[in-house]
Amino acid sequence: MVASHRVERARAGVGFGLLLALLLLGLLAFPLADRLWTPSFSSSSRIVELPANSFEFGILGVPSCRSKIGAAVDWSRGDLVQGLKEFVSIYERRPIPNNLYGMGFDHSFGLWFMAHWLQPQLMIESGAFKGHSTWVLRQAMPNCPIISISPRHPQRYLQKGPAYVDKNCEYFADKKFLDFGSIQWDKVMDGYGIKDRSKVLVFFDDHQSELRRVKQAIKAGFKHLIFEDNYDTGTGDHFCLRQICDQFHIEGGGHSCSEDSYEARVRSARKGFWEKALDIKELCGSNIMWWGVQGEMRDNFSHNNTAISYATHVENVQFLESVLDIYWELPPVAGPTLTHQRRFDPARTSHPIVANSDNHLFMQLGLDRLNKSVFNGYTQMAYLRLGY
Ligand SMILES: C[S@@+](CC[C@H](N)C(=O)[O-])C[C@H]1O[C@@H](n2cnc3c(N)ncnc32)[C@H](O)[C@@H]1O
Repeated sequence: MVASHRVERARAGVGFGLLLALLLLGLLAFPLADRLWTPSFSSSSRIVELPANSFEFGILGVPSCRSKIGAAVDWSRGDLVQGLKEFVSIYERRPIPNNLYGMGFDHSFGLWFMAHWLQPQLMIESGAFKGHSTWVLRQAMPNCPIISISPRHPQRYLQKGPAYVDKNCEYFADKKFLDFGSIQWDKVMDGYGIKDRSKVLVFFDDHQSELRRVKQAIKAGFKHLIFEDNYDTGTGDHFCLRQICDQFHIEGGGHSCSEDSYEARVRSARKGFWEKALDIKELCGSNIMWWGVQGEMRDNFSHNNTAISYATHVENVQFLESVLDIYWELPPVAGPTLTHQRRFDPARTSHPIVANSDNHLFMQLGLDRLNKSVFNGYTQMAYLRLGY
């Protein structure tokens, strides 16, 4: 009996130790800043009961494409904070105050920061809408020529309200519109005197398959690409890098579709709170095909969708990773306690630049001056440096 008591006590001791170790691991994995949340955080005046881990970033994994050379971007979180210090007041002067259906604050900042950091000789954008992103590119690089490709010229929006038309921008729009993949880039580059195409930055916000865009960019010889929308697996209206790279070999990648899994439980707990959160049934569909959007490669604002097999899904990542020097996702600018955003689920994103509890930094940067709606559009903007 005494001996068995000792064994029990020893077991209890080991159990307690394990619990403590797990707790410590949890503390290390998710900094305090992102675990703090305001219980009274409410939406539409209704107080919502949050699962205890609601604001924990990345707990369902953050799919990421692998660099074939193990390279990373050369800017740091500190550089991003410095950038924010400058950008908030620039953003406050934007010509299109309410850019509904276009970019919000997070991606405007990401685009501005990267264009400014990379200092290209020419910038190309595909998908201009009213011209907000053209304006952002112009703020980053005041003298750099821009080529803007969009079926409808931003000028046409000016008749109805705010829009931006740039003086140093060549528009492939209206009658001159050509898809990025149909433009004779050799001729255009000659016209701009561009000898080295790695000095060109290409920005896509046109809701076309990003796999196709990467292949077209390679054909044209471009190496620096930014994708505005980079929808998570199971969501969105076109095929995105994140969906391609959501693979079992990536942390948090691949999905079992089991309704009796940790993932299924966490997903269903989060679904009611974060607008874009999917439960396991929505992710997998009836055919247990979780890749892309329920086994489909969506394209062109969801007008052309094609079913792909799991083998094709794996082939796609093999191709992408074979041409990737760098893949970098812009983190959300600030935690949801500060921004009050309710759309993207932090469980599938990296840690924000301004942590949830850092109200001091949020205010210091002037982010509190912005209308909360501008933080609603975050969809994991991605930067790619191709090496081929
Ligand atoms: C989400 S909006 C772009 C928003 C814009 N970048 C901004 O910052 O406000 C998508 C735009 O892509 C345009 N578009 C559609 N098909 C396109 C294509 N094949 N090539 C380029 N743009 C396209 C649409 O007309 C629309 O203006």
